[in-house]
Amino acid sequence: MPGMELNGASAIITGGASGLGAGTVRALVDAGVRCTIFDRNEGGAKTLADELGSLANYVAGDVTNPDDCQRAVDQAAQGGALRVTVNCAGTGWVGRVINKDNSPHDLGAFRFIQDLNVIGTFNVMTKAASAMAQQEPLANGERGVIVNTASVAAFDGQIGQLAYSASKGAVVGMMLPAARDLSVVGIRVLTIAPGLFDTPLLGLLPEEQRQALAQSVLFPKMLGAPAQYGALVLHMALNSYLNAEVIRLDGGIRMPPK
Ligand SMILES: NC(=O)c1ccc[n+]([C@@H]2O[C@H](COP(=O)([O-])OP(=O)(O)OC[C@H]3O[C@@H](n4cnc5c(N)ncnc54)[C@H](O)[C@@H]3O)[C@@H](O)[C@H]2O)c1
Repeated sequence: MPGMELNGASAIITGGASGLGAGTVRALVDAGVRCTIFDRNEGGAKTLADELGSLANYVAGDVTNPDDCQRAVDQAAQGGALRVTVNCAGTGWVGRVINKDNSPHDLGAFRFIQDLNVIGTFNVMTKAASAMAQQEPLANGERGVIVNTASVAAFDGQIGQLAYSASKGAVVGMMLPAARDLSVVGIRVLTIAPGLFDTPLLGLLPEEQRQALAQSVLFPKMLGAPAQYGALVLHMALNSYLNAEVIRLDGGIRMPPK
């Protein structure tokens, strides 16, 4: 396949200490990519980096803090050409437009989710793109790829997902202008919209509820595995002809209103 050479390349993965981010780190390290895990969970980041050995390192910090993001990008770019940026740090929130007592959705909660899921993605995407743009291109003119994490909630927002769907819709919306902006420097921008994945986020639910969620998937009737997410990121990195596209990775699920 005529694709991006990852040998000797570096990657930065936000939220890399857990769930989809950790699945991505494992897939990229398996492919020989040097990974910088950027996560506010220092203990989790260190444990994974220690387990994976010399190809993994970490930076403890917050994606909503621009200085932390710059520090993480600088460290990732030190060890080799920064070719892969993956934004996985993010979280959900449950809250309706109006609460059961008809009071309005809390503004602080709405802001918190946009700050983490949108501004966090913006911070790392812009700083990483700046570093990637300054490195030598590969033979085909390519400098790298940025993969952002949305959610099927960007399209099938459920009852109580006002803040979360707004944030994931913004992640999808940023992709095309970003891919257009960065085409002149040979950087591709892609988005994955995951369905229901078996990560610590869903692990908080009782087993019975997890089983019910798995049964709601079209086929296969199971929660997605972080390794399947990591495999798609790796394919996106390798396949130079994929650009400016959002791929649902969801077993065909379409989320109902609730
Ligand atoms: N699990 C799912 O089913 C699912 C479905 C759709 C979308 N997603 C999205 O995928 C992404 C990853 O989800 P996950 O299930 O792997 O979650 P997770 O909770 O397992 O992992 C998220 C990681 O992000 C880190 N993080 C959170 N806030 C941070 C911050 N401010 N700065 C730095 N790091 C921070 C956490 O410490 C954690 O290690 C999220 O954006 C989530 O919205 C997940």
